[in-house]
Amino acid sequence: MRTAILISGRGSNMVALIEAAKAADFPAEIVLVAANRPDAGGLERAAAAGIATASVDHRPFGKDREAFERALEAELQAHGIELVVLAGFMRVLTPWFVTRWQGRMINIHPSLLPDFRGTHTHARALEAGVAEHGCTVHFVVPELDAGPTILQAKVPVLPGDDEASLSARVLEQEHRIYPQALALVASGAIRLEDGVAVGA
Ligand code: GRF
Repeated sequence: MRTAILISGRGSNMVALIEAAKAADFPAEIVLVAANRPDAGGLERAAAAGIATASVDHRPFGKDREAFERALEAELQAHGIELVVLAGFMRVLTPWFVTRWQGRMINIHPSLLPDFRGTHTHARALEAGVAEHGCTVHFVVPELDAGPTILQAKVPVLPGDDEASLSARVLEQEHRIYPQALALVASGAIRLEDGVAVGA
């Protein structure tokens, strides 16, 4: 499966995915890394790994999200992309784009969904005093952070945790389960059918 990773920042999940995809029997081939920010640190890391990169800056498009997405879509088409992986991609995508890629686009979210949708998940988990926190890989649907779960990993919240310690513990699990989830989707072992993740 020709796969693109979309990023906005440092791209540590992207690196984990690129590493996993080096295995000869891995069912996804990472052929493009695209960022909505030209200064995304992950772009250099992708280029260093020999992967094609694209920078589609959202700012010139102002409030016209679809115009930005059409430019992004053109890059995906130019590279023959079949599967889209969001890895720290910090733009909300419109129903137009999400519908085009439904069943073929996945995201990782740093919480045990459906808990703590949206941003600042670690701070909110600490504030809520939960005993367990974690991360979720899910299919992307038009509603934010609401798509069917592919894989989840839990971590304990420990006494004395702050945002940094908790997010580091979760990130370690993100790097473990995101490649697994991508393999499940790329191989067809888990599919989105009628809004449900089948095989999960
Ligand atoms: C991760 O915590 C991911 O769950 C969230 O954004 C962060 C991206 O980190 N969506 P990185 O760029 O993969 O290092």
